[in-house]
Amino acid sequence: MSTIEKFNEHVMHSYGRYDVVLEKGKDRIAVDENGKEYIDFGSGIGTNSLGYCNDKWVDMVCNQVKSIQHTSNYYYTKVQADFAEKLTAITGYKNMFFGNSGAEANECAIKIARKYSFDKYGKGRHNIITLVNSFHGRTLATLSATGQEVFHNYFFPFVEGFINVEANNIEDLRAKLDDTVCAVMFEYIQGEGGVCALEQDFVDEIYKLCAEKDVLTIADEVQTGVGRTSKFLAGDWFGKKADITTLAKGIAGGIPMGVCLAGEKCAQVLTPGTHGSTFGGNPIACAGGLAVLEKAGDESFLAEVREKSDYLRKKISAIDEVASLSGIGLMVGIELKNKKAADVVKAALDEGLLLLTAKTKVRLLPPLTISYEEIDKGIAILEKLLK
Ligand SMILES: Cc1ncc(COP(=O)(O)O)c(C=O)c1O
Repeated sequence: MSTIEKFNEHVMHSYGRYDVVLEKGKDRIAVDENGKEYIDFGSGIGTNSLGYCNDKWVDMVCNQVKSIQHTSNYYYTKVQADFAEKLTAITGYKNMFFGNSGAEANECAIKIARKYSFDKYGKGRHNIITLVNSFHGRTLATLSATGQEVFHNYFFPFVEGFINVEANNIEDLRAKLDDTVCAVMFEYIQGEGGVCALEQDFVDEIYKLCAEKDVLTIADEVQTGVGRTSKFLAGDWFGKKADITTLAKGIAGGIPMGVCLAGEKCAQVLTPGTHGSTFGGNPIACAGGLAVLEKAGDESFLAEVREKSDYLRKKISAIDEVASLSGIGLMVGIELKNKKAADVVKAALDEGLLLLTAKTKVRLLPPLTISYEEIDKGIAILEKLLK
């Protein structure tokens, strides 16, 4: 029985998968079971931030595996403390909670927002504004938060208390941000929604209204964070820092980790027994995370990411079939003139290139360590496919 047959026999069919069995990888190159190589412009949906098996990352992870792989959150470990110290130093947040995924990081943010408001104002101020076309995860609460009707099926009843506002519609925001609201949650660049950045005016208005009403801002930087946009947080592009920021995907370089960062205002909201996770803060994930932070937390590394993304964007813009580019840094959405993104992504597999889609666009989330040579090679393939 082939791997694909065996897999399909025993694993639930909740994904549309490509017929590729990846076996190993090194840096930006993935290798399938037949030895075929692929340049990776997707990094496991923005997760292998340092590529496959980066040397330093491997050393740090393997050393951790040999010392302590897990303990309960009844005890402390040094690697967790080191990671949290470094991440809060880089981001300027007061403290953080450890989870294992983007959805969990957002669940934590939702709980903090509701408890912050309950502690201060009592019941009745539990609503959270999220944006139309957002994506916040697959748990029931984060699905309910997600502002896309296609996700609001089958699993009724959904979690109540989420109100959708149209992205970039200031009037809609003003009308819905009433006394029942405890937080506004948003992605600076909607990733799954099609790599669509918010407008500065709209972001300004969110922060202004929230400050006036003591409503918390929650930036979901699960996809945009950890250097993806060539700044550590995408909020830096907008000159903003939310009360709460969530991170996951690239934070530990391919080991499950989700983080909920809190500013001074809400850093003490969670008290013993109010939230937890068995695996949260897993030492192996923290070791991988430290390797990522050493790179992505370094300004000169981020400057290189910026230069490479400028180079990549310029080359893609020059392709005839490309209608427009969206996103910031190495989070790239490509709107095509005539071809279908899904067809291009599928055809790219035959040519040895891993791409992603986001709605109608081709989406690129290459490892932050991508080289100029790999950019050239990958774009040459894309250019050929778009002819
Ligand atoms: C912005 C955003 N938030 C949350 C999530 C959910 O993350 P996870 O799949 O790790 O739960 C995603 C995943 O694509 C995301 O892009």
